[in-house]
Amino acid sequence: MSDMSQNISQLKTELTSLIEAANDLQSLEQAKVTALGKKGRITDLMKNLGKMDPEERKTTGQALNVLKDEIADLINKQEAALKRQALDLRLATETIDITQSPRPERKGHIHPISQTIDELVTIFADMGFTVAEGPEIEDDWHNFTALNFPPGHPAREMQDTFFLPDDPTEDEEKQKKVLRTHTSPVQIRHMLNTKPPFKIICFGRTYRSDYDMTHTPMFHQMECLYVDKKVNMGHLKGCLMDFVRTYFEVDDMPVRFRPSFFPFTEPSAEVDIGCSREDGGLKLGKASKPENQQWMEILGSGMVHPNVLRNCGIDPDEYQGFAFGCGIERITMLKYGIPDLRTFFDSDVRWLEHYGFDPLDRPNRATGK
Ligand code: PHE
Repeated sequence: MSDMSQNISQLKTELTSLIEAANDLQSLEQAKVTALGKKGRITDLMKNLGKMDPEERKTTGQALNVLKDEIADLINKQEAALKRQALDLRLATETIDITQSPRPERKGHIHPISQTIDELVTIFADMGFTVAEGPEIEDDWHNFTALNFPPGHPAREMQDTFFLPDDPTEDEEKQKKVLRTHTSPVQIRHMLNTKPPFKIICFGRTYRSDYDMTHTPMFHQMECLYVDKKVNMGHLKGCLMDFVRTYFEVDDMPVRFRPSFFPFTEPSAEVDIGCSREDGGLKLGKASKPENQQWMEILGSGMVHPNVLRNCGIDPDEYQGFAFGCGIERITMLKYGIPDLRTFFDSDVRWLEHYGFDPLDRPNRATGK
């Protein structure tokens, strides 16, 4: 055996025992540098190749390459073994106490408006209504004209809103853009886009330029529309009674109609629910003595005006319907005892923690809570 091949086999024995002796990843890395690094032992021997005659260079070169591969292979195997060992150790020693209670976390809450809308969807879906939607940026025609507000009529003034720049790409009567003052334009959009019968509810943001204890410039409304061949005020009353009794969870809730005016309904009625203040606080429902019965307005309603039906291409001699519109904040405040409307939109997390609903434990009509 030549000197060189003896050196190589000696180096192999030496490096092998060095690698096998490495009992953690750090010393293995060290051994790797010693063996294969730029200034390592094998590289050292490679440097001598240049001085050899061609025949010797060939055999030594091959032998060194074989050694390099063998050593690299050995290092990989040792590394895998060490990693396995480390994992086994962790598995044997590390434990998690799953009986420990979790760290208290800040939980999100469902906003009372969202909660109420979800409850209303359930109630009206049970009665066969489907949910319709419309844009918050409306045009004057859908918001007023089609709803039988004649241009310049004082009823328009009662719904003062925010005006946007005209949109000249639209037809003339739809150029004037407003933030919708009520959800009633969704009635128009729905009647124009589908065929009767119509049985829809709609929820959404509405806008008026008001701001005080009971008015915010943005608020929410619910709209209900039912149009068919034989719809009458009895249906309106039945639907409303069912709605308020279910929503407020008061089975004998007194409901009263008061004649009123809306351009888009005829006849029109405001609807009140019964309440009393017999023990100081406000209580919804029947008073224990008739003389203590008080009333609270909750919504506007009526039979869809024939002009509105005509504006949507529907023959009022064939179809009639009822509609009502209701402020969502008001009925949320009444049901959940929230005193000030403005706080709904302050985005105060403490308020939401107090009045909001636990997403995993919400009152709803399915659980009866
Ligand atoms: N849109 C009316 C309002 O905002 C409410 C309403 C809707 C009245 C439907 C009658 C019928 O005051």
